[in-house]
Amino acid sequence: MTDPRGTGVTLLGLGAMGSALAATLLGTGHAVTVWNRTPARAAELSAQGAEAASTTGAAVAAHPLIVTCLLDHASVHETLDPVVAGMRGSTLVNLTTTTPNEARELATWADGHGVRYLDGAIMATPPMIGTPGASILYSGSRGVFDDVRPVLDRWATSTYDGADSGLASLFDLAMLSGMYTMFAGFLHGAAMVGSVGVTATEFAARATPFISAMTAGFAHDASVIDGGDYTVPGQQSLDFSDLSHIVRASEEQGVDPAPVAVVQELISRQIAAGHGAEGFARLYESLRAVRGDNTGRSDHTDRAETLR
Ligand SMILES: NC(=O)c1ccc[n+]([C@@H]2O[C@H](COP(=O)([O-])OP(=O)(O)OC[C@H]3O[C@@H](n4cnc5c(N)ncnc54)[C@H](OP(=O)(O)O)[C@@H]3O)[C@@H](O)[C@H]2O)c1
Repeated sequence: MTDPRGTGVTLLGLGAMGSALAATLLGTGHAVTVWNRTPARAAELSAQGAEAASTTGAAVAAHPLIVTCLLDHASVHETLDPVVAGMRGSTLVNLTTTTPNEARELATWADGHGVRYLDGAIMATPPMIGTPGASILYSGSRGVFDDVRPVLDRWATSTYDGADSGLASLFDLAMLSGMYTMFAGFLHGAAMVGSVGVTATEFAARATPFISAMTAGFAHDASVIDGGDYTVPGQQSLDFSDLSHIVRASEEQGVDPAPVAVVQELISRQIAAGHGAEGFARLYESLRAVRGDNTGRSDHTDRAETLR
């Protein structure tokens, strides 16, 4: 394999994440050109050996591999639209968080300007970049992924999720949905015991091993969902899972039951539809995208068809 240190990289966006990405590349011997809307943020990286471009035009002309780590989809267009003509033949790896459709739009836009595009979603915090715990998901052109992988692997474990440019974002946001919902549940529990003076610190120590152990149940629920039979034995039924007592207990303690009330609402919907004897995983049926037929294909592109 060619020594990736020979690959020069332009990085636009020097917030907390962009700076970590640039510093990691510099630390592994890459030539790095950086640009940031607020130029002062480039000073530290310049001291470490980065070339600070004073304009976006100069930045995108510096290297054929261009990486964006900006705030959002709009900021990527705001930054690159004026200079995209100078990017023809370049490769753009966008690590800015976007929705799946925003990623697809950027891929189409790049393609229309003769720019090779790969979308990325960072599953790490800035201090994790370049360490074994970091993970970055990619989707879009497999060829681009393979070509630039030696650079991508400097930052994190790189995973290719498929040719649909929206897939990395979709996995990212799906995992974050699970994470934030779980954190909201933790904060609700902390508020419940906090109503009698228990500290959040004590609650965290008690809740962490319990909730961690419960996540082992994801795999079982997943097998039920994929099997499509919510009546298979060994599941906790929806009737048994009724959470109205938790909602009531929360209210009795003067605590807003909002996070658990949402779950109770999903349970109630399935019980009202006659599925009370079926397993908890049936909540998935209240949430999933509407499917056009009964073959298991969604209305959206099937990911299996995009993995090459
Ligand atoms: N931090 C994390 O833990 C983390 C984890 C995963 C993914 N991400 C994603 O990584 C991206 C960057 O995150 P961050 O933590 O580095 O954010 P940040 O520290 O808030 O930095 C935002 C960057 O975007 C630039 N920016 C904002 N609006 C702009 C515009 N209209 N035109 C040009 N530049 C603009 C800012 O420039 P100025 O300096 O001029 O304001 C700055 O360089 C985001 O999409 C974020 O979701 C971050």
